Parts: sequence; C-alpha cells; structure tokens
Amino acid sequence: MRPSVVIACFLGLAGSTNAAIHGRYVVKRGVLELRAEGYDFVIAGGGTAGLTVADRLSEAFPKKNVLVVEFGDIEYAPGVFDPPKTSMSDTSGMSSRWTLNSLPSPELNNSTAFVIVGKAVGGSSATNGMFFDRGSRHDYDAWDKLQEGGYGDERWDWDSIYPYFKKSVTFTPPPTAVAKEFNYTWDTTVFGNTTPIYASLPPFQWGDHYLARKSWVEMGIYNRKECAGGDKEGLCWIPISEHPVTARRSHAGIGHYAAVAATRPNYHLLVKHQVTRVLYRGANPKSGPPLLEIKPVNDDQSSSRFNVTAKAEVILSAGAFGTPSILQRSGIGPWAFLQRANIPLVLDLPGVGSNFQDHSGQRVEWNYTVPPNFTPMPSDMLNATYAAEAAIAFNQTPAQGPYTLAMSNSAIWVPLPNMTISYTILLDQIRSMLNTTIGLKDPKAAAHYHLPTDTDATQISGFRSQLSTIHNLLANPHAPSLESAFTTGTSVASVLLHPLSRGTVRLNLTDPLQPPILDYRSASNPIDIALHLIHLRYLRRMVQTTTLHDDLHAVETLPGLALHSDAELIGFIRNVTTQSYMHPCCTAAMLPRVEGGVVATDLRVHGVAGLRVVDASVFPILPSAHLSATVYAVAEKAADIIIRQWSEKYKAASSD
Ligand SMILES: Cc1cc2nc3c(=O)[nH]c(=O)nc-3n(C[C@H](O)[C@H](O)[C@H](O)COP(=O)(O)OP(=O)(O)OC[C@H]3O[C@@H](n4cnc5c(N)ncnc54)[C@H](O)[C@@H]3O)c2cc1C
Ligand SMILES: *[C@@H]1O[C@H](CO)[C@@H](O)[C@H](O)[C@H]1NC(C)=O
Ligand SMILES: *[C@@H]1O[C@H](CO)[C@@H](O)[C@H](O)[C@H]1NC(C)=O
Ligand SMILES: *[C@@H]1O[C@H](CO)[C@@H](O)[C@H](O)[C@H]1NC(C)=O
Ligand SMILES: *[C@@H]1O[C@H](CO)[C@@H](O)[C@H](O)[C@H]1NC(C)=O
Ligand SMILES: *[C@@H]1O[C@H](CO)[C@@H](O)[C@H](O)[C@H]1NC(C)=O
Ligand SMILES: *[C@@H]1O[C@H](CO)[C@@H](O)[C@H](O)[C@H]1NC(C)=O
Ligand SMILES: *[C@@H]1O[C@H](CO)[C@@H](O)[C@H](O)[C@H]1NC(C)=O
Ligand SMILES: *[C@@H]1O[C@H](CO)[C@@H](O)[C@H](O)[C@H]1NC(C)=O
Ligand SMILES: *[C@@H]1O[C@H](CO)[C@@H](O)[C@H](O)[C@H]1NC(C)=O
Ligand SMILES: *[C@@H]1O[C@H](CO)[C@@H](O)[C@H](O)[C@H]1NC(C)=O
Repeated sequence: MRPSVVIACFLGLAGSTNAAIHGRYVVKRGVLELRAEGYDFVIAGGGTAGLTVADRLSEAFPKKNVLVVEFGDIEYAPGVFDPPKTSMSDTSGMSSRWTLNSLPSPELNNSTAFVIVGKAVGGSSATNGMFFDRGSRHDYDAWDKLQEGGYGDERWDWDSIYPYFKKSVTFTPPPTAVAKEFNYTWDTTVFGNTTPIYASLPPFQWGDHYLARKSWVEMGIYNRKECAGGDKEGLCWIPISEHPVTARRSHAGIGHYAAVAATRPNYHLLVKHQVTRVLYRGANPKSGPPLLEIKPVNDDQSSSRFNVTAKAEVILSAGAFGTPSILQRSGIGPWAFLQRANIPLVLDLPGVGSNFQDHSGQRVEWNYTVPPNFTPMPSDMLNATYAAEAAIAFNQTPAQGPYTLAMSNSAIWVPLPNMTISYTILLDQIRSMLNTTIGLKDPKAAAHYHLPTDTDATQISGFRSQLSTIHNLLANPHAPSLESAFTTGTSVASVLLHPLSRGTVRLNLTDPLQPPILDYRSASNPIDIALHLIHLRYLRRMVQTTTLHDDLHAVETLPGLALHSDAELIGFIRNVTTQSYMHPCCTAAMLPRVEGGVVATDLRVHGVAGLRVVDASVFPILPSAHLSATVYAVAEKAADIIIRQWSEKYKAASSD
C-alpha cells in the first residue's frame, strides 16, 4: 500500500502551499513542541541517510521515540529540469541549498571548488541531479578490505551491502514502447519493490542522445544490460530517482518521511534547528549517550540553546560537511586543531574532517563544422509553444516529454587497463610511493604521501592502506577509473573516480556555526594528475570515431587540437579542472582507529559512548558512482545494525 500513499503525499508537496503540507504531517517548529521526557533515538540531520534511519527505527520500535533535527525546512524540491525551467543550468528557486567555495587549490592554479549541499527535509537527495547509480562490487570489496585490523563483525563487501541496495529502492520498468524507442535495457532482479524511493527510466531523450553511446561502442566499450548488479564497467543506462508515473523527484523527504509520518506517532521531525554539538556529562565521552545541543536557525543568542536527551543513542547524519563540524564543535577531533580553536578536548580523533574526497575532472568538447539537424533539442525550449507543450505533457498521467528527463541517464565506466597500455607505469609510481624507508612517525611522512602537514601517524598508516587498495582497484580490469556521462549537446566530462589527494574540513573559527572551511587540496597527489591525463587522452578519442568525426564532421574544441604533449595537457588540467561534482565524502571514515578512522564497522564513533555516524562521511573511499544510492544502502544497513543491537538490549532488559 505504501506506493499509493506516496503519490498522494507527493502531490500534496508538489501542490506546495505550506498549509497543505502541514495538514498531512505535522512537523515541529519549536522546542516546546518536543516530548518533555526526551527521546530514545535522536538523529542530527534530516537528509538522505538521516530520514532513512529514522523511518526504519520508528517502524521497528513502535514504543520508542525517534526525533530528527533538521536545519532546513519542508520544501517543494523541484527536479533538475522541472517546469517552468527551460534549461538544465537554471537553478532558480533552489533556496534549499548551501553554496560553498573552498580554499584555493595550489596544484590547480589556485582555483577554488564550488560545492552545493542540500539544506532541506530530504537533504541533498532533495536537490541533487537524480542520477541514481550504484558503485562497482570492487569498490565495496575495497571498503571491506580496509577494515582489516579493526574490530566489529559487520562486513561491507559487495555481498554484504547488495541486499540493502535492493531493499532501498523500487525500480519500475518503462513501458515497452519507450524501452524499444531508446533501446533501454535493465534487470529487475537487482532491485527491490517495497520502499517508496523510486528509480525509473524516463520516456524522453533529446534528438542527439544516441551519439555518445554509438561512439563509445565504436571505441570498444562493453554495452552492459544492467549496471546496478555489481558489475559496472562498460556503457550503462542509469535510472533517475523519480516516480515512474508522475516523473517527479523521489527523495528521502518524501519516501522516508512524508509517506510514513502520518501513521507514526513516534516519529518526530523538528525543522529549522541547527545541531550545535553533542555534550557528554562531565565531558566524559564514556558517560553514556550524549545530550544533543540545538538552537533555532535564525536565533544566535546563547539563551536559545536547548539540550535534547537521547535515552538510547545519538546518530549524526548531517552529511560530509555537517557531521565533522558537529564533532569538532563537540571537542571530538584532531587535538592540535581543537587546541588552536580553544575548544575543550573531549576525545582526540584525528580522522574527524580529514580524508576528505570528491570527484573531479575536465570536459572534452567539440563542434560540428556542418551543423546537424537533430530534433528535438534543448534549444526548442526557447520556443514558447514548445515549452508550453512540454509543461502540459509533464502534467499528463503518465508524465511525458522533456521535463521527465533529469540531468542524464547514460554513461560509461572504464577501467584503467582499457585506456592505455602504459597504465603499468602509473601502478609502478604508486608502488614506489608505498615502498619507502620513511616511517609513519617521521616528520617527512605526510609530505612523502602528499598529505596535509598536520596528518598524524594513524592517518598516514590508513592512507598507506588506501594507496595499496586503490592500486589494486586501478590494476583491476573490471574496476572503473573513469566515468563519463552524456545527455545532449557537444561535451562530456572526464570524471576521476578514485582520487588519491586528500583534503580537510575544519570549523571556521571566525564563526564555528557557519559552514566549515573546505580545503580540497585537489591534485596535491601527482598520481591524480597522471590519472586525469590518461582519462582525458582516452575520452578525446571519442571525437575521432566514425560517428562523430566521419559522419558529423565533429572537431574537438576542448582541450583543442592544438594541445598534444603531456606538458600541454597537464597545463590544461591545472587550469580547468572542476574540483567538485558535488560528491563530498569520507570525513568521518569507517576505518580502524589505528588507521585514522572515526567509526567502527557498526558505525559507532571510536572511543565514545552512545554516538554513531550514518551518512556519506563514513565512506572510507569514494565509490565509482554518484553518491545517493550508496548513501541509501549504507543507511539501510546501518538501520539494520542499530535495530539488531537495540532489540537484543531491550530483550535482555525486559527479561531481567
Ligand atoms: C547539487 C547536487 C547534485 C548531486 N547530484 C547527484 C546525482 O545526480 N546523483 C547522486 O547519486 N548523487 C548526487 N549528489 C550527491 C548526493 O545527493 C549526496 O551525496 C547524498 O544525498 C548525501 O547524503 P547524506 O545523507 O550524507 O547528506 P544530506 O542528504 O546532505 O543530508 C544532510 C542533512 O543534514 C542537515 N544538516 C547539516 N548540518 C546540520 C546541523 N548542524 N543541524 C541540523 N541539520 C544539519 C542538512 O540540512 C541536510 O538536510 C548531488 C549532490 C548535490 C548537492
Ligand atoms: C597560489 O597562491 C599562493 C599563495 O597566494 C602563491 O604563493 C602561489 O604562487 C600561487 N600559485 C599560482 C600558480 O598562482
Ligand atoms: C536501437 O537498436 C537498434 C537495433 O540494434 C538500432 O537499429 C537502432 O538504431 C537503435 N536505436 C537507438 C535510438 O539507439
Ligand atoms: C576492456 O577491454 C577488454 C579487452 O579488449 C574488453 O573485452 C572489455 O569489454 C573492455 N571493457 C570495457 C568496460 O569496455
Ligand atoms: C546543556 O547541558 C550542558 C551539560 O550538561 C549544561 O552545561 C547546559 O547548561 C545545558 N544547557 C541548557 C540550555 O540546559
Ligand atoms: C569549430 O572549432 C574549430 C576549432 O576551434 C574552429 O576553427 C571552427 O570555426 C569551429 N566551427 C564552428 C562551426 O563553430
Ligand atoms: C515552436 O514549437 C511548435 C510546437 O512544437 C512548432 O509547431 C513550431 O514550428 C515551433 N516554431 C519554431 C519557430 O520552431
Ligand atoms: C623498494 O625499494 C628498495 C630500496 O629502494 C629497492 O631495492 C626495491 O627494489 C624496491 N621494491 C620495489 C617492489 O619497488
Ligand atoms: C568564515 O566566517 C566568516 C564569518 O562568517 C566569513 O566572513 C569568512 O568568509 C569565512 N571564511 C571562509 C574561509 O569561508
Ligand atoms: C588557462 O586559462 C587562461 C584563461 O582562460 C588562458 O588564457 C590560458 O591560456 C590557459 N592556460 C592553459 C595552459 O591552458
Ligand atoms: C592561472 O589562472 C589565471 C587567472 O585565472 C590565468 O590568467 C592564468 O593563465 C592561469 N595560469 C595558467 C598557467 O594556466
């Protein structure tokens, strides 16, 4: 029955007056509306992971109370390309976001990263590009391998996480005519059908959509029927996180809150409140679950702070920037930094806000010397009649037309050995970086691994393990290193999937409640430049295929035919790299504490009581995918772990 409830609620949301929304599920707006007795589980951040966990816990424990504290509000969260937008780059009406600029990255001509972060019920899933892909099995097998030497029985290899990928999403095949028109392929057995988070293949493509796919097949890239089943290298159709009938965005705020809240009196959501920090009694991190200190978003007086009590535990799900900020404000983080910040130390945990990663890359562009006549094309949206028809089509049942196509749903994932025979030289470079006489505690060690100067010995040890694991991923002919997606137009991005550069996320000491300071340090590890170069050289071959070059007279305009040598292309890379594809992660990594980790395999924060992290910050390394599907799967698995651990405790308590 859940799916039909969801449609009703969604239409409520899309109808979009706040009154209509609050009539259905009453969110809390002030601390006086909270339970005076406190809660059992308190979750910081009502985003992709936080609402998934809240939904599962409130369902499994109907007599226990769950509170989610969210910075943003319930928002009508439009898709990337919903009416009345006429271009995909139109970001108007997107108030539910933070837009951040990083510090300059010296290796990239001091350019800064531009990053968007979701700030609404549903978090980044309510504002993202809706590209809904899973990583490769080798990514998660690598995560699991990195846990060796840690404690805890939970496994995170592909076989262990795959059931949660399935559970987390409902895939609905497209109508036969649509499938035939675009040659869509899929395998329903890799998806579930119970959770109202939807993955769908849209009933629309632009007139030139097939060009890239045809060129890629010509380049010898394997055309894979389904890429969500663990094997991902090749050319893929990727579902969009949208409802199969309405084609409206499907996100955690709808599927894991709006769809269930009306029937879950034990599931509370407080909006427009910021979690400032967690507080341990007597600053003793073993003293049991901490209090969660919160404040209204628009009230900075210290008297407006309020402590929420959690009888069972506190779960941090504030995302890759929000979670390490809360921990650092709580005195849990790198000792030297906290001392400089004048924050009383509760626990020295150097991994908090370290190990920061994101996907980055450049673009290959071309033009047509003989203008081809594709139809329809995005430029048609400038024709008022066409745009009006598109809006009408989108409101049909089922929805039709260009507005059903979000950002993109077609892409390649290519392993390094498929791109160049000289990849072994790069693997040699990684091995020689590993093969060193420098000890972990040597003052020169951080520089040897191109890590930030304040990196401690545990993190260096953890980075060595990552280097070795990523070496094996890059050597693996089935593990992707490059991603490139195409929708329409004359450009494709070359995305580096497994960077070796590591940045930091640290509080802004001028105002620690503002978004933190992001130091991307992109391309600080020279291996990343070498990888970008291989990827770029490979991807530009696309413009030389029969499809683009012979049939359509395409000419490469970026990097441009004038750039040949490694030095020229590296200059181009240093000049134009996009440092963030909006996939920040790994800033409270699941790794053993002796390897610089922040959480154990059951996602409990090392060395403290009653505190867990569940969001993209726990990833140890980036997967070969956009992050939302993996965040949902991690959150589903985390919820299962939490439910199992507390069921046992509650059972033991009741039989006492
Ligand atoms: C513009 C953009 C495009 C993207 N495109 C794609 C895509 O096409 N496909 C894809 O798979 N992934 C995409 N991603 C990435 C993906 O959406 C995110 O990685 C994922 O949703 C993160 O989930 P999370 O639970 O870790 O964090 P979020 O979903 O971001 O949730 C964190 C929540 O915590 C709240 N919060 C933060 N700090 C506090 C605080 N102190 N107190 C209270 N609340 C707080 C935030 O408001 C937010 O709601 C995109 C992301 C963005 C921003
Ligand atoms: C980047 O900025 C730093 C500090 O301002 C400066 O020393 C350096 O020369 C700059 N690098 C480039 C390539 O401009
Ligand atoms: C779909 O596949 C058929 C048969 O392989 C091919 O003839 C046709 O051009 C393809 N259509 C598109 C849009 O790719
Ligand atoms: C990589 O190359 C091998 C050998 O040519 C080929 O069989 C395989 O399909 C290629 N992989 C991809 C993802 O294209
Ligand atoms: C919150 O708890 C801390 C630690 O116990 C205490 O010092 C502080 O006064 C409390 N704040 C409020 C508003 O009750
Ligand atoms: C295409 O790009 C080439 C190389 O930059 C340029 O010489 C040519 O004029 C461009 N053609 C068109 C039609 O824009
Ligand atoms: C505008 O779009 C309408 C509807 O698709 C079409 O009939 C008309 O020819 C278009 N006009 C132009 C100038 O392309
Ligand atoms: C590691 O370094 C040592 C000393 O520099 C060298 O003798 C050895 O061959 C290297 N091993 C590998 C696998 O590169
Ligand atoms: C830190 O916060 C202050 C005050 O909000 C702001 O002016 C400054 O730009 C921030 N610094 C950075 C690096 O973002
Ligand atoms: C870098 O970009 C600037 C400005 O766009 C341009 O003038 C310069 O030629 C570029 N350098 C390289 C090496 O591409
Ligand atoms: C570095 O960036 C500056 C300013 O954007 C640009 O003028 C310059 O050409 C760039 N340097 C190189 C080497 O590309």
